[in-house]
Amino acid sequence: MNLFDDPKQRIKQLSDELNQHNYNYYVLDKPTISDFEFDALLQELILLEKAYPDYILPGSPTKRVGGEVTKIFQSVKHRYPMLSLGNTYSFEDLRDFDERIKKLVTRDFSYICELKYDGVAIGLRYENGLLTQAVTRGDGIKGDDVTNNVKTIQTIPLKLNGNDFPSDFEIRGEIMMSHKSFENLNKSREAEGEESFANPRNAASGSLKLQDSREVAKRKLDCFLYFLLGDQWKEKTHEERLKKAQNMGFNVGHFFKKCANLDEVFDFIQTWDVERKKLPFDIDGIVIKVNEIELWDTLGYTAKSPRWAISYKFKAERVETRLESVSYQVGRTGSVTPVANLTPVKLAGTTVKRASLHNADIIEKLDLHEFDIVFVEKGGEIIPKIVGIDKSKRDVYANKIHFITNCPECGALLIRNEGEANHYCPNEDHCPPQIKGKLEHFISRKAMNLDSLGEGKIEMLYDSGLVKNVADLFDLTSDTLFGLEKTIISEDGKNKIISFREKSVENILNALQQAKIVPFERVLFALGIRFVGETVAKKLARHFKNIRNLSKAAKEDLLDIDEIGEKIADSVLLYFSKAEHLELIERLANKGLQFELHEDFLTPKSNILDGKTIVVSGVFSKPRDEIKTIIEQHGGKHTSSISSQTSYLLAGDKTGPEKLKKAEKLKVPIISEADFLKMLP
Ligand code: IVH
Repeated sequence: MNLFDDPKQRIKQLSDELNQHNYNYYVLDKPTISDFEFDALLQELILLEKAYPDYILPGSPTKRVGGEVTKIFQSVKHRYPMLSLGNTYSFEDLRDFDERIKKLVTRDFSYICELKYDGVAIGLRYENGLLTQAVTRGDGIKGDDVTNNVKTIQTIPLKLNGNDFPSDFEIRGEIMMSHKSFENLNKSREAEGEESFANPRNAASGSLKLQDSREVAKRKLDCFLYFLLGDQWKEKTHEERLKKAQNMGFNVGHFFKKCANLDEVFDFIQTWDVERKKLPFDIDGIVIKVNEIELWDTLGYTAKSPRWAISYKFKAERVETRLESVSYQVGRTGSVTPVANLTPVKLAGTTVKRASLHNADIIEKLDLHEFDIVFVEKGGEIIPKIVGIDKSKRDVYANKIHFITNCPECGALLIRNEGEANHYCPNEDHCPPQIKGKLEHFISRKAMNLDSLGEGKIEMLYDSGLVKNVADLFDLTSDTLFGLEKTIISEDGKNKIISFREKSVENILNALQQAKIVPFERVLFALGIRFVGETVAKKLARHFKNIRNLSKAAKEDLLDIDEIGEKIADSVLLYFSKAEHLELIERLANKGLQFELHEDFLTPKSNILDGKTIVVSGVFSKPRDEIKTIIEQHGGKHTSSISSQTSYLLAGDKTGPEKLKKAEKLKVPIISEADFLKMLP
């Protein structure tokens, strides 16, 4: 029989083949097929699994695409406590460590030196060769079950190679984010107006706690494994166990080394103190472990860490330089950040000219004075920071640095709210960076989604004086746009000229036309009222139905709405108290933007779905939100997770296999978009 006639067989073959390719690519770093071929096989498997959910294998590579949503991460007790390591900072400390061991151990032994990965610790449980649980460190005794999210990480095998391993075991390692993924993530967060992560470790940790595993899959996390637990292993040394783990499919990295004595350990440390700067991810030290496992018991453990291992932490590089001045940057949301301008100095491979001072409290705490000689360090954060001052070198006449009182961009008096560390400029409509921020927010994907205005064009329109607020966008014509030109520095550091030629003028004007069909709730979000995010905008739109009602709402009316508290209510009231905002809305409304809920929302269409609860999952011919609205219009309810109370699972393309399985298990009927539309009158 042809394999293609036997879906069960083909699903198994594709799963095995794709798992092997993942291993070749991510662990061995030796891909044997192109990305294109890989995607084609994966697509075939996705389609087959959709058609034959019964045959989906537990270690299926399609699980990595994500799709499972975890509302609350269950707290799980570790089977073996998750210990930490003793830290050392000098070779002297390592000599003591070595001597302590030699007092207890009489036989010859060796060390394994490994990189100390600066990420998030994770424990992975495998039962019968399948990944069944992934738990974070937590407090070392109990951690969070983040299995769904961890399954999206390409370097973690869902199913192990071969069958020479215990039927139930745990392996531990570190979840990491590479510098490149970190930079890309922060870039896109900044573009969306979200706060950026301070370092890759925070980004990895934040990613593991995302509710939607599909989002986790996009974050491109990595994992290095370094510790096989339990006594069921026949390998007698840590080195053999690492190699064993690699053969089973784990990424143990290529960087560990067996060292016969302390001098070889010192060499390894010195090499990596330099080489680490070339790694595509962060390490913060070297871990030194006794290689012979029978000695682990002899040496034992303290309450917190094993006596057979220790970590050597690299020193953060520190240099001395002079403070030349302090300047203040006004962000797109109006927050003011002080920046120290320094006499340029070499630090950890780069020239440092500036360091962040974060806020007024930090300046005060440092007791910073003009022209101080400061110590600068590059820690986990990308931007170096001032960690101290050499006060002995301070000029007696030097003035203390005081935080500015007025906005450096527009002159407005700065505000600092109680309980907040940052100062901000309240002049949201006339302060240049804030105007740009508002324009950028307005055109962003989740707001008006005016793609063709992105990439520096907004800046250009603002700088040319054509656009000073969002309503001005709708006064643009082909005459005013055509030929406008500007040189920008693109992401790769090269100069790039952007100019409005016929095609882009046409695209911009078309996009502005399209803006007229953007529904009220998104227009409301696009206005950029402080604290009115996507969800709040939706709530306000549904509740007040149109902008007139909203603009006249009293505080009590606002507070009456679920989840709207003082802070949001005050901000909405303040926004509509300004005549300028009302004028702006008037202009936008005159241009045809939606300031009232679409009729469809206002009038129920039938009660055919009365009492029905539907879970909508996957990709449909129209946006999922639209499908949900249709459900509401016909009297139904929609929820995100399947339970025995669910009436239907409305499954579009790419519905997660776990969802389909759960529906089958709970006997919840699975319907397609076509089936659903047929139900409606
Ligand atoms: S071994 C019982 N090896 O650093 C010993 N840990 O500060 C278990 N870490 O808890 C740890 N790289 O989260 C080990 N090569 C490595 C490591 C490593 C990073 C982390 C791990 C550990 C922490 C201790």
